[in-house]
Amino acid sequence: MKVRTVGVVGAGLMGSGIAQVSAQAGYPTVLLDVASDLVEKGLKRIGGFLDGSIQKGKTTADEKVSILSRIRGATDLQELAACDLVVEAIIESLPAKRDLFGRIDRICRPEAVFASNTSSLCITEMMTATSRPARFLGLHFFNPVPLMKLVEVIRTVATDDEAERAGLEFVKTLGKVPIRTPDRTGFIVNRLLVPYMLDAVRALEGGLGTIEDIDAGMKLGCGYPMGPFTLLDFVGIDTTYYIANIMFEEFREARFASPPLLKRMVLAGMHGRKTGKGFYDYSQEPPLPQNRLTA
Ligand code: 3HC
Repeated sequence: MKVRTVGVVGAGLMGSGIAQVSAQAGYPTVLLDVASDLVEKGLKRIGGFLDGSIQKGKTTADEKVSILSRIRGATDLQELAACDLVVEAIIESLPAKRDLFGRIDRICRPEAVFASNTSSLCITEMMTATSRPARFLGLHFFNPVPLMKLVEVIRTVATDDEAERAGLEFVKTLGKVPIRTPDRTGFIVNRLLVPYMLDAVRALEGGLGTIEDIDAGMKLGCGYPMGPFTLLDFVGIDTTYYIANIMFEEFREARFASPPLLKRMVLAGMHGRKTGKGFYDYSQEPPLPQNRLTA
């Protein structure tokens, strides 16, 4: 099977990024959300990123127009009827995802492939809300989607080879690198990344170093593009806490247990860059490390 038209449900940070790279690769793409202002916001985010690309000389104004012309904003699920592949990128809530997949199952053709961009929820549990277990998989993109080269292609015990191949091929046509993994909470990257970020918080709590020294250690000592606290703020403290809890529930291993500080920061609304404050305060440039968090 070949993917010709793509639907993306959820016009947030991840969904709009996925719609962008899909349109960049030439696919007519439907970007859908529950309200038109959310769709508009997603389209604006894509336009803003492409403006940045023009400034950097990585794309042209004509290409921007042509990419945007391939994205159709929508709020009605019926608009997905003709899609060969639907990628879900809505909130990380299993009931919400199951409800969505159950509804689009009745709208899309039986051979259409459904994929979830979840970072930590069970793909198999979403699959059971549909009548197409063989054509259901995970496609896990990374933030920022237009820049990050990796996509995890997740198969369940029921995904057939053809659907998995379609997912792998689709990712390659986006100019990204697919890696295959079975449906296990956290897949490959978060299985390794989440304990690393939690360990950095434990190191901070234990007085091993300051925020900036731990960040510099991993950035300059290991060549990581961002230190763990910069990355935690980038991914979101609330998101990391949420993922860690799901992983702890699944594996019952101490390395997935959230350190006390993380929960306190979530409760205090310090969610990282998106709220202006996390391990760094973003109200000034350069952002100020918040070492008093553990004082
Ligand atoms: N259009 C086109 N290209 C752009 C661009 C734009 N609007 N903005 C930036 N770029 C390009 C730059 O030109 C540069 O390209 P070059 O390498 O050819 O020169 C490249 O992107 C990097 O951009 P910058 O130099 O401006 O910025 P950085 O070097 O700081 O890189 C980053 C930014 C890619 C975000 C980098 O810091 C990084 O890789 N960080 C780690 C991100 C990460 O780990 N993400 C995964 C999070 S985990 C996740 O998502 C999973 C979830 O489940 C939790």
